Amino acid sequence: MTVSSVISRCIIVLLTFSINYFPLLPVGCQRAMTTRYTGYLVVEPAPLFLMGSNLTVYCHTHKCDWRAKIYMVLNGKPVDKWERINCTTVKFYLPSIWIPLSAAICSNYMHSVVNGVDLRAGLPPDKPDTITCETAKSSSLINCSWTRGQETYLPTLYNISVNRENGSQIRLFQIQDADKITIPRSMFDENTTYLIIITASNHFGTSQSDPVVLRVKDIVIPDAPIIMQIQFPSNSVAATLQWKSNESSVYLRPHVMLRTNNTSWEMRAGVELGKNLIRVDNLTHLTEYEFQMKICNTAPVPTHTNASSISARKALLCSKWSPSVRKKSPGKGPSQQLQVWRKVERQGTDGQRNVTVLWKPLPREDFSGKVIEYDIFLDNGQKLKTCAAECIQCSVQLPAEVSSLSISAVTTYGKSPPADVILRQSGVPGSLLIKFSPAADGSAVFVSWSWTTGNYPSTQEEELRYYVIERTIVSGEGLWWQKLAKDLNSTSITGRLTTEPLGNLAVHIRTAKILPTSQLWTNDVVIAIYFYVQSTLMGTSSV
Ligand SMILES: *[C@@H]1O[C@H](CO)[C@@H](O)[C@H](O)[C@H]1NC(C)=O
Ligand SMILES: *[C@@H]1O[C@H](CO)[C@@H](O)[C@H](O)[C@H]1NC(C)=O
Ligand SMILES: *[C@@H]1O[C@H](CO)[C@@H](O)[C@H](O)[C@H]1NC(C)=O
Ligand SMILES: *[C@@H]1O[C@H](CO)[C@@H](O)[C@H](O)[C@H]1NC(C)=O
Ligand SMILES: *[C@@H]1O[C@H](CO)[C@@H](O)[C@H](O)[C@H]1NC(C)=O
Ligand SMILES: *[C@@H]1O[C@H](CO)[C@@H](O)[C@H](O)[C@H]1NC(C)=O
Ligand SMILES: *[C@@H]1O[C@H](CO)[C@@H](O)[C@H](O)[C@H]1NC(C)=O
Ligand SMILES: *[C@@H]1O[C@H](CO)[C@@H](O)[C@H](O)[C@H]1NC(C)=O
Ligand SMILES: *[C@@H]1O[C@H](CO)[C@@H](O)[C@H](O)[C@H]1NC(C)=O
Ligand SMILES: *[C@@H]1O[C@H](CO)[C@@H](O)[C@H](O)[C@H]1NC(C)=O
Ligand SMILES: *[C@@H]1O[C@H](CO)[C@@H](O)[C@H](O)[C@H]1NC(C)=O
Ligand SMILES: *[C@@H]1O[C@H](CO)[C@@H](O)[C@H](O)[C@H]1NC(C)=O
Repeated sequence: MTVSSVISRCIIVLLTFSINYFPLLPVGCQRAMTTRYTGYLVVEPAPLFLMGSNLTVYCHTHKCDWRAKIYMVLNGKPVDKWERINCTTVKFYLPSIWIPLSAAICSNYMHSVVNGVDLRAGLPPDKPDTITCETAKSSSLINCSWTRGQETYLPTLYNISVNRENGSQIRLFQIQDADKITIPRSMFDENTTYLIIITASNHFGTSQSDPVVLRVKDIVIPDAPIIMQIQFPSNSVAATLQWKSNESSVYLRPHVMLRTNNTSWEMRAGVELGKNLIRVDNLTHLTEYEFQMKICNTAPVPTHTNASSISARKALLCSKWSPSVRKKSPGKGPSQQLQVWRKVERQGTDGQRNVTVLWKPLPREDFSGKVIEYDIFLDNGQKLKTCAAECIQCSVQLPAEVSSLSISAVTTYGKSPPADVILRQSGVPGSLLIKFSPAADGSAVFVSWSWTTGNYPSTQEEELRYYVIERTIVSGEGLWWQKLAKDLNSTSITGRLTTEPLGNLAVHIRTAKILPTSQLWTNDVVIAIYFYVQSTLMGTSSV
């Protein structure tokens, strides 16, 4: 053990004692006893022992006193197995010590310390394994690393022997408690095969690695690539990285890592799109990303004359990471169409119709940024009207011949796909049977409907697409509406029915098929279930 390791050992022990035990003891340093202590300790087999050993510690006092009780504390706990030998000596048994560093303190009945000792457990080194070496193209050094195996808890020395193929040693390097070493490249001939053997040794033993074969030209890592360009394909949460490299091997595979806000790096399995182009998925919109790339040579590890020998070449020889490139991902434009409905008023004397287009706001998670406005277009693509971002409906004056409109939400990062607003009605007669059943507590109404046989549109163009249920507020403001999937035939609407006839509903009741006419809404009234087909509105069954 070197002088410095003894010193460091003393420091460790002093710290341990000063934290855990009082008084502070210069134990374990095994220096000359100071007069402060009234005795000394002897450890068998030794204060430095194989982990898990049973120890015997003798506490000797300078004074002979049969009555004086002597006890021992190990790591703060009293030792209960002991034997009095004579008037100066007590023998303590410390079984199976697995703690790397322990403190045993012997005290007398006055609670004054007789003496203390630090006990140090360790293990012999494991065989150094997975020895790999690498160097860069223009580097003058070779870096080798190995795995040390189980912790030894003791200073362990590694001898790295560089040998000729016939086994004669060329150079020996030494390093303590390390799992890597840097050796000068100049001592190697680039094409010659060498054998590396690593021997680990400490107080408890020696362990030698298998020899590994080293040939410098096999362990040169590729040069780092450079990221040339990063692009975010429109409206996606992916990035494509264009990169370049000096390397020409067909075995090169790119790897990408990224991070945001200087957080920890995250490796990403990219999708190779072609030569020097890779796509990284699952990114987040409007986030500043930092990317780095490396390339790894996946060429098979060269075999040597002796087939059983292990090569010091890594299975994957990877370049260093490229310099960082930062780029912020764009915001997301809406991907969904608006859900639309419309209210068409009877044609005026001037040949114009007043059409109110209604829509539901886009789900917030469908786009980033905010809605700027809604644009209504004619069939021919001409913009008809711009409606404010807060609106959920907008009225336009139209000549009777205009049969369809479209509407898009305009957001900070793009427009929603246009949603068609169909104005025409289908020629197919409506014969929807509607049934209302108030809930027992009167707080809701269950509405169900069905087609009467033969009325379902037969031509393919007249395919049923969905239902719209509409409800006007009797007080006059607004129109409540909801789109329902075509495979539904019932829904529940909260609201209360009343028996009071409401004059302003008379016109609607006219075409009702089944309706308990005595029951009408007090506040809200279901006025119609429209059924909506491919291109035209197919009649209404108004209630
Ligand atoms: C330690 O002592 C116990 C009995 O107290 C015994 O079973 C065990 O084998 C001993 N261990 C060693 C390493 O001697
Ligand atoms: C007590 O026993 C120890 C160990 O057996 C011995 O070294 C020591 O001399 C003895 N002391 C006396 C006073 O007998
Ligand atoms: C070798 O190790 C040194 C020091 O740790 C490091 O600077 C260098 O980049 C390494 N070289 C290779 C090729 O890994
Ligand atoms: C390690 O190398 C040193 C210096 O040559 C030598 O004294 C020692 O015996 C070697 N250790 C082993 C385990 O080979
Ligand atoms: C190994 O080869 C070197 C040079 O080729 C030679 O000097 C040395 O004597 C050889 N050692 C053995 C053990 O054959
Ligand atoms: C190593 O071998 C290659 C061919 O395999 C040869 O071109 C090169 O000159 C050799 N280098 C040395 C230093 O012998
Ligand atoms: C390619 O090699 C040249 C010279 O060796 C070097 O200056 C350049 O940086 C390298 N480029 C890349 C992408 O590694
Ligand atoms: C990154 O930082 C920005 C502001 O500096 C913060 O709004 C954002 O939430 C952070 N993102 C992460 C992933 O920490
Ligand atoms: C990340 O760290 C770099 C350098 O340490 C600094 O220039 C940059 O501003 C940091 N970025 C963020 C988002 O914190
Ligand atoms: C993207 O993330 C989803 C869920 O977060 C995950 O299921 C999927 O496998 C990820 N795709 C990629 C390419 O990482
Ligand atoms: C068209 O209808 C809307 C909503 O019913 C109404 O606010 C607007 O005044 C009407 N416009 C005309 C010109 O009738
Ligand atoms: C609604 O559909 C279900 C099956 O999907 C059917 O059993 C039920 O009779 C239908 N109700 C009406 C009123 O058509």
